[in-house]
Amino acid sequence: MNDKEKLHLCMGSACHQLGVYDVLPKVQALLVEYRLEDKVELKGAFCLGPCTDGVVMKFKDKLIINITADNISQKFGQEILPLVGK
Ligand code: FES
Repeated sequence: MNDKEKLHLCMGSACHQLGVYDVLPKVQALLVEYRLEDKVELKGAFCLGPCTDGVVMKFKDKLIINITADNISQKFGQEILPLVGK
């Protein structure tokens, strides 16, 4: 059974243009850094909705917006880690 929480990273065209391919490796590295690979599964998503506020991620029904390669570490720490109980 796969009971990992899904972390959705928007791969839609707007988020693509806003640099999701720079964000992706950083998210992967953060999951390793915080040893979350057993708890959280990173999934690509189609457009999550708020395209103009991309790059967008969704975790446990919470949308995390305005992500960049520069702020992903901070947003991950503030918005995702609390939701996984870290
Ligand atoms: S393309 Fe990412 S939210 Fe629409």
